Amino acid sequence: MSKLFVSEHPMIQSKMAMLRDKDTGAKEFREIIHEVAMLLSYEATRELPLTDVKVETPITTADCKVIDTKLAIVPILRAGIGMTDGLLNLMPTAKIGHIGLYRDPETLNPVEYYCKLPSDIEERTVFLTDPMLATGGTAEAAIGFLKEKGATKIIFLCILAAPDGVKKVQDAHPDVDIYAAAYDPQLNDHGYIVPGLGDAGDRIFGTK
Ligand code: URA
Repeated sequence: MSKLFVSEHPMIQSKMAMLRDKDTGAKEFREIIHEVAMLLSYEATRELPLTDVKVETPITTADCKVIDTKLAIVPILRAGIGMTDGLLNLMPTAKIGHIGLYRDPETLNPVEYYCKLPSDIEERTVFLTDPMLATGGTAEAAIGFLKEKGATKIIFLCILAAPDGVKKVQDAHPDVDIYAAAYDPQLNDHGYIVPGLGDAGDRIFGTK
């Protein structure tokens, strides 16, 4: 079973209060998503593999460690894009892919409408981002598409997670750890997280 990490960090909790506030405008909302994503990526990179290196200091030789994997950030369109720069602050050499999905109105199956990934995706630890893990349908499908394209090590980052979404991802992809800034107890009849923060994409991009 994959791990669900929910942050208890005071900085993240305070920022979550601002994100949840319906009176927080798009500019501030975007900036805070960026900050929370950066703080969360600090936690999500905690178990990256390291390799030993020797570094010449001005005094002598030091035994050091450096990260031993290439990195990729893959936002799920469109709201996942709001988290990209926060992750990039921490891992500036990461390559960035994009994946877009819609649900076929007849079959209800997720269909990939856009996918552009680094060509060596199979060699990279992939940080897949989407602010809201609600029903989990999109995340489950996006992880499946990434695996079909060769990704083997995937970590999912969201701002808010709900039980249905966590279960769906964990059942389908027990190898994918989930990092969330907060965990809410339920969804409403429209699939929105409750108490939640509303429509993350609309609030990031100011489209409502
Ligand atoms: N997507 C959102 O943007 N908000 C929710 O609450 C659920 C899904």
